[in-house]
Amino acid sequence: MEEIGLFEAIYSARALRRFKPDPVPDEIITRILDAAIRAPTASNYQNWVFLVVKDAERRRRVAEVYRKVGDAIRPVIANLFQSAPAAPAQLARQRRKLNDSVLYLFEHMHVPPVLLVACLKPVAPYWQGAAVPDRIVAGMRAMARFDSSSIYPAVQNIILACRAFGLGTVLTTLHAVLEDEVKAALEIPAEVDTWALLPIGYPLDKFGPVKRKPISEVACLDRWGSPWPG
Ligand SMILES: Cc1cc2nc3c(=O)[nH]c(=O)nc-3n(C[C@H](O)[C@H](O)[C@H](O)COP(=O)(O)O)c2cc1C
Repeated sequence: MEEIGLFEAIYSARALRRFKPDPVPDEIITRILDAAIRAPTASNYQNWVFLVVKDAERRRRVAEVYRKVGDAIRPVIANLFQSAPAAPAQLARQRRKLNDSVLYLFEHMHVPPVLLVACLKPVAPYWQGAAVPDRIVAGMRAMARFDSSSIYPAVQNIILACRAFGLGTVLTTLHAVLEDEVKAALEIPAEVDTWALLPIGYPLDKFGPVKRKPISEVACLDRWGSPWPG
């Protein structure tokens, strides 16, 4: 397969939620995992585990929990993707599309041939016993929250690597509403956290373009509120 450029991947790796059941070769999954482990982690702990679920029965179990989450939180999803009554028609259409796509995945998580669960093992509380003032210990404790961010750079590498191989995926987190059931279904140890569930497969829909708010709305030069001029 011809490799695509980095920026082409960034601009076209939109969230895809409808998949063909066709299998993905293990060599490609290995390449995707190899991209994942190139990502940074806090203190380079690399305390991640990427659980690749190919077994049909295990995927069915996860999909069952994901469907259950969908049934339970349908009203929350409706709130989440509702537009203000005065919103432009285009925005309302985008919101509806996203809503339908999210709901579709609740019913079809069993279809993609691979479910990748991105996990983090806990790290030792490194601030304990350090000879620093209490205020700094408190700050370190608060900072430890960011250790959990160690998984998402890897997840983005997975998204881009999937795109490079013509595979669709989407970062999902709603499984965490019933995380204990997902962990039980996959026999994941209690102390491990699951940060993302990525369905991976050949997509039914097209890649990109990824549409976002303009840079001028979200980036500042020197001062908060002063738009980046570029
Ligand atoms: C932190 C995070 C959590 C997300 N959780 C879910 C999820 O649980 N289910 C889902 O279908 N999509 C989920 N998404 C995907 C977003 O809905 C998607 O990235 C966003 O709508 C942009 O889509 P686009 O790239 O196609 O424009 C999540 C994305 C992020 C970054």
